[in-house]
Amino acid sequence: MVQGVQGRVLVIDDEKNITFVIQAILDRAGYETLIFNDSAEAMDSIGTDDVDLIITDLYMPGPGGMEILEFCQNNYPQLPVVIITAYGTVESAVNALKRGAFDFITKPFEQSELLTIVKKAVATHQQRQKEPITLVSSQRPAPVSNSAQPAAEISSIIGNSSQMQEIFKVISKIASSPSTVLVWGESGTGKELVAFEIHRNSNRANKPFIKINCAAIPATLIESELFGFERGAFTGAVASKPGRFELAHEGTLFLDEVAEMPPEMQVKLLRVLQEQEFERVGGVNTIQVDVRIITASNKDLEAEVKAGRFREDLFYRLNVVPIHLPALRERKEDIELLVKYFLTQFNEKLRKSVTAIMPETLNALKNHPWPGNIRQLENALERMILMCEGSVLTLADLPEEIQPVAMPGAEEEGSEGFKAIVRRQTQNLERELIEKALEETGGNVTRAAEKLGLSRKGLQLKIKELGLIRR
Ligand SMILES: Nc1ncnc2c1ncn2[C@@H]1O[C@H](COP(=O)(O)OP(=O)(O)OP(=O)(O)O)[C@@H](O)[C@H]1O
Ligand SMILES: [Mg+2]
Repeated sequence: MVQGVQGRVLVIDDEKNITFVIQAILDRAGYETLIFNDSAEAMDSIGTDDVDLIITDLYMPGPGGMEILEFCQNNYPQLPVVIITAYGTVESAVNALKRGAFDFITKPFEQSELLTIVKKAVATHQQRQKEPITLVSSQRPAPVSNSAQPAAEISSIIGNSSQMQEIFKVISKIASSPSTVLVWGESGTGKELVAFEIHRNSNRANKPFIKINCAAIPATLIESELFGFERGAFTGAVASKPGRFELAHEGTLFLDEVAEMPPEMQVKLLRVLQEQEFERVGGVNTIQVDVRIITASNKDLEAEVKAGRFREDLFYRLNVVPIHLPALRERKEDIELLVKYFLTQFNEKLRKSVTAIMPETLNALKNHPWPGNIRQLENALERMILMCEGSVLTLADLPEEIQPVAMPGAEEEGSEGFKAIVRRQTQNLERELIEKALEETGGNVTRAAEKLGLSRKGLQLKIKELGLIRR
């Protein structure tokens, strides 16, 4: 919370009269307000702006109040949402409460009524910010009795987001078909995990899952790795050896980083896919196999085809079932679940008992862009849990690269929180840049916005928010 301010309130209503009145009342009562008349724009800013409360109208062009409520419940469950309803629509108000709204206000409302609700909601949020969120029970899970099955083999894909739900549906639908699957997505999004899960859910589950990483094996060796070789096929081939295709017979062959496969191997792979048979290197016998192929790539293979680096005919053979894994930053709502999952895992592995996280720390994790996706989150959490001294993860436990901005003097500033410092510094910088742009353009907002790479509306909003011109 900024010093001297009661709290920050984000107000969304397409009717300017309403936002104007609410803003005037809250301003006078010492609250800072962020006003949006466009609900889509408002939704974009939720989470990036640090607020204590959202007041939103129910019916608006674009996303409505219920949609905003649902978004907040999924992504920022600590954040109270108050719904404004028109007089006489009690039913929708009750519905909103059932879905987790903090309270509702009926139009027309009294000033005192608004202030009472706002005060209560802001206090609730500020209290919640001080309380850790318990993610796992402090009791260690009972040791698994079946020690023959190492924990690492119990694979599970975590994700509640609509994108992941969709992927689970596809996996269960196609697992048992022999069709080839192409899994693609940024590095660390879980491609290998998905490939294995498809195998595990297929009728090939108790046959081998064989993996080959096309980027890790020198081009000259890929052929003998895939197809095997006969004794004397080349210098050093003192005994014959089956390739991965043979090893994967009746099971699944996972070709990782398939975009890196050299052109001459692409041709050979195409032939096997078409004919389901091949010869070992240096061999004369034709070998027939029944193998389900799953490939993965962190490159967009279609673009590789267009660029002439990947055979088009092979692409179509591999891309029968495409599965695209979204980047972690596109499904922030899964982050809490993943944190919970990794907490349980690493507590066990590292013999720790970290059971909770501070809300601001969780928010920092949710707002990090995670270029290395789940693998990066997993590694960051392992480090955090290892270094954590108590049972609660705090901002201090965050690895440096995840801290949004360095925390100069956070200690000395006493009661002022980390986020408040970051916000103040950011606002100072914004103020400086905007003032400079306005000065250079003789106060022309449109041209200043162009200079800053902002929309005119965006700049006006900032000007208002930073109090650069009197409202
Ligand atoms: N949805 C998920 N739930 C739980 N763990 C996951 C999930 N997705 C990925 N992981 C974990 O993240 C790590 C990276 O996953 P994986 O190796 O499958 O990614 P990848 O897409 O193959 O990465 P790369 O492109 O770098 O090869 C693994 O430890 C994996 O178990
Ligand atoms: Mg991988």
